[in-house]
Order: sequence, then C-alpha cells, then structure tokens
Amino acid sequence: MAPAEPNARPFRPKGEIPHFAEERQGWKGYVEWEEYPEKKKQAQEILKKHDFPEPPEFQLVPLPNTNPILTGERWKQYHDACGLDYMYKDSWETVLKEKSEDMIHVLQFPYNGEAPSGRLIKTELTNNKDHFVRNHGGIPDIDPDKWTLDIGGLVKTPQKLTLAQLQDGSIFPRQSNIATLQCSGTRRIEQIHEYPGDGDELINAPWGEGAIATARWTGVSLKKVIKYCGGLVGNADNIEFYGADTYFKKGSVHNYTVSVPWRKVKAHEVLLAWEMNGEPLPKIHGSPVRVVVYGYIGARSVKWLYKIKAIHHPSAAPVQRKEYLYYTPQIGKQNAQYSNGFSIQDMPVSSAIITPQNMGQIIHDGKIRLSGWAYSGGGHWPVRVEVSGDGGSIWYEVPAENMSTKYFYAWRTWWIDLPVDAEGWLEMCVRCWDNAMNTQPTFVRSAWNWDLHVTSSAHRVKIYSINKSRPATAARLKQLEDNNAPIAPITRPIHFDLETDEEYLKAMESRAWRDPLE
Ligand code: MTE
Repeated sequence: MAPAEPNARPFRPKGEIPHFAEERQGWKGYVEWEEYPEKKKQAQEILKKHDFPEPPEFQLVPLPNTNPILTGERWKQYHDACGLDYMYKDSWETVLKEKSEDMIHVLQFPYNGEAPSGRLIKTELTNNKDHFVRNHGGIPDIDPDKWTLDIGGLVKTPQKLTLAQLQDGSIFPRQSNIATLQCSGTRRIEQIHEYPGDGDELINAPWGEGAIATARWTGVSLKKVIKYCGGLVGNADNIEFYGADTYFKKGSVHNYTVSVPWRKVKAHEVLLAWEMNGEPLPKIHGSPVRVVVYGYIGARSVKWLYKIKAIHHPSAAPVQRKEYLYYTPQIGKQNAQYSNGFSIQDMPVSSAIITPQNMGQIIHDGKIRLSGWAYSGGGHWPVRVEVSGDGGSIWYEVPAENMSTKYFYAWRTWWIDLPVDAEGWLEMCVRCWDNAMNTQPTFVRSAWNWDLHVTSSAHRVKIYSINKSRPATAARLKQLEDNNAPIAPITRPIHFDLETDEEYLKAMESRAWRDPLE
C-alpha cells in the first residue's frame, strides 16, 4: 500500500476509469450494486488494480490538530478509481450547506461530524444542524417526487410505494416520537487514548461525546407498512433495509444494508421517518425517507431508504454481519472472527459530562456546575444520574428537577452544582442508572473491546479546581487581577514574587523555620 494521509499520493488511475451510471432519474448519487453481481465484480477488479493509501495511523500517535481531523484520502481514492469522485465532492458541499459552521469534522469523507460539545446539551432536542452525522459513503440527493420504496421478500403482497402514498394518513396513520440516535462510536476517543484497537475497516472515527443526538421523528410505523403488504409469510424473522449510498468494504462495493428483528418492528419501534424536528429530513440525514430504530445502535437506522425485504436470518450484508460487533477483551487482531463478536443492537446505559471539559481550570466558590447527557437504549430510560468529584468514591445524585423530560427512547440532559472543597487536579465522573437498575462499568478498561464500540464506562474529566472561598486562593486571585494576569492557563508562570521578604520571614517564624533546633 502507498503512504497514508497526510502523505497520501494523489490518485493515479490504472487503466480506464469506468462509468457506473446512476440507477434512476432524480436520484443523484445512487448507484445500484446489490441487484447486479456483474457490476460488483467489475468494481472489485478495478479496485484490485490500484495501490491505495494505507489507513492513517492516529491511535498510537496524537490525532492531527486540524478540522477536518481526518480526510479519508483512501476512501476518496476508492471513489476516484470507480469514476465516482463526484460522490465525495457533493458530500462535502452538502456538509457545508446543511451543518453548523463549527462542526467538528471527525472525518471529511465519508462524512462523520459532531457538534462542539459545549452546545450539545443546551436543548433537550438537538438542532438539526448540530445533529451528528455518521456516513459510510456519499450523500444521495433524491427528488422526493421521484422517490419510491420497494417492499418485498417474505411478505404476502410486495408493494411499491410513493412518498405521497406513505404520507397519506388515510392509509398509514402517522407516528411521531422523540428518540435519541447514538452511534456505537460515541466517546471512542477514550478507548483510543488508553487502549487502541481496530475499529471498523472503515476508518474508526475518533468520536468525542457528540455521536449522540435527539430529535422528534415523524413518519409511519413500519409494522403498518408490512400489514399493508398483507403481513409476513414463511419463516420471515428479520426485516432488511437498503440505503442508496455506496459503501466499500475490503475491496468490494455495496449499498448500505442492515436488518432488524421483526420483533422490534412489531412493537412499533421502527419508524419510516420523513420529518426531523418538524422539518423535512435534511439530505445528510437520509432524505426523503429514513429508518429510525428506537433504542438500537444508530447503524440500523438506514438513511436514503429505497428497499425493504422480509428475510429469515439477519442480513448477510457486511455492515450487519461484519461491522458493529462487540468482542470480549481477550479478542483482538490475533483471533477476531465475525462470529465471535456479538452484533450490537440495544444500546447500554451511558452518560457524559459535557461541561466542564477535560483539562478545564475552574474558579469556583465551593461548588462546580456539571452538566451532560445520560441515555439508555432498548426502551430503558435514565432514572438516576450520579456524579463524583473524587474519581468515583463519593457520589452525589443529580436532583430530579435538574434532569430533562423522561422518554422511553431518549436521553435526559442534566446538571448539578457539585460541592467541591478540594483544590488542584480532580477527576470528576458520572454514571447513570436506568429503570432496570443497569449502570455503567467503572473504567474504560472494564469495557474495552477490539472494535472500540460502545464506550459506556463512567465518563471522566480531569479538572483543576481553584476554590475562591478559601482565603489564600481569593488573595492570589486578587493579586493576579491587580497584575492584570489571568490564572488560566495554570501552566503560564507567575511573573511577580509570590510573597514579600517580610511576609516570608513572618510565615517562617510562625513555622519555627525549617529544621528542628536539636
Ligand atoms: N444509513 C446509510 N444509508 N448509510 C450510512 O452510512 N450510517 C448509520 C445510520 N444509517 C448510515 C446509515 C450509522 S452507523 C448511524 S450512527 C446513523 O445512521 C447516523 O445517523 P445520522 O447521520 O443521521 O446521525
């Protein structure tokens, strides 16, 4: 393989660049792969001929201090080789149009981005522009009037529905729920910092606390749509979803495909949504229609949905079978198989401190305000959030009135004024208890896994406490202020004497100087 980014060499075609036509008029960025094994093979042959850049090393060395943090050169070149370079160009244009200007672009392409964490929990529902994005490929641009959805496989009467039909309330009653989407990569950076691992073959994005967000989703329950098809037949146990984007995996090309068990659909926990917080779905979030699976890992909530199939076993597609696996700590590069990891579905209980941020230097008068989110998947909800100012020995409960509304499928934001007497470096941490009394592992190490998914251990931030209710600290702060010198960053030296000679002598006298007299 050729050098990794940031030293990746520009793409050099080997032979003629193919033209893989878009499948349908009005569906920009949609190339159908799953229906055409020959086409898949052709793409595979082309990919084989090229020398693509190595994946960048960013776990054993510090992350680049840039935004985008990673650019995805290797992934872009896969597209170059297949004549699909417009996909990554369009993707970036859509990011700039649809997302907040100050998004943290964890990966430029396929686009992965999270909002600056200070803003994440300002509101119970996340502004659409701030909602994290986790893509595996480009961003199809589908004309809603040209959109259709095929429902087939093990259903009695396969159907093709238009958006107008799906939105016809006399056929399909509307369902609207507040639900949190959480990528299993949330807080991955903590695992990377302590114990690196593999992650996806798709660059294992170094997410912070922001690969989670909450929205009101509106659409129809998939159960109603399956019923409209006359219900399931045969041994249908799973429902498979196809997304119109193109996804590369180990030298082959696919449409993004995953499945969920029928049981989940039956409980009206799978929505075909066209609205996000009262607005039509943004392109980047799956317009015109996406799946939202309540309480599950975000990976099952397929965007740019165009086909649904009732099937027997879970989908054999790579995202379902080969990604989003959770391994025990004894499994790694030396022995990982697809079959010895388990497929992540319900998200476990987790939480994060959003303010103050790690390495913050906080001036306070005996109380520090902490705020953050807490979430539990699978229909569980956060009941109690506890924080500790000493790394997890003594815990304080967040008062119930400081927690946002309870929902079956959504996070709760919270805040607390934590009593803090101590000064200097402290480790603050948070843990949540859900309604089934599940709580979080204590340390990153307790839940480390090779693919670096689901960092659900108690979230920890180190902060430097400056308690101005202590007279000596108040005096030093005043001294600094009089000298027009800020206390933060604490690493900047003080340029004036810490005390006068008279003060020193008086203090040393009172301590009987340094050494004993006899
Ligand atoms: N659907 C398609 N078609 N392609 C994708 O790459 N990513 C999945 C899921 N649905 C993905 C997809 C993953 S891993 C997550 S976490 C969620 O979408 C993220 O949804 P969002 O980007 O709207 O926040």
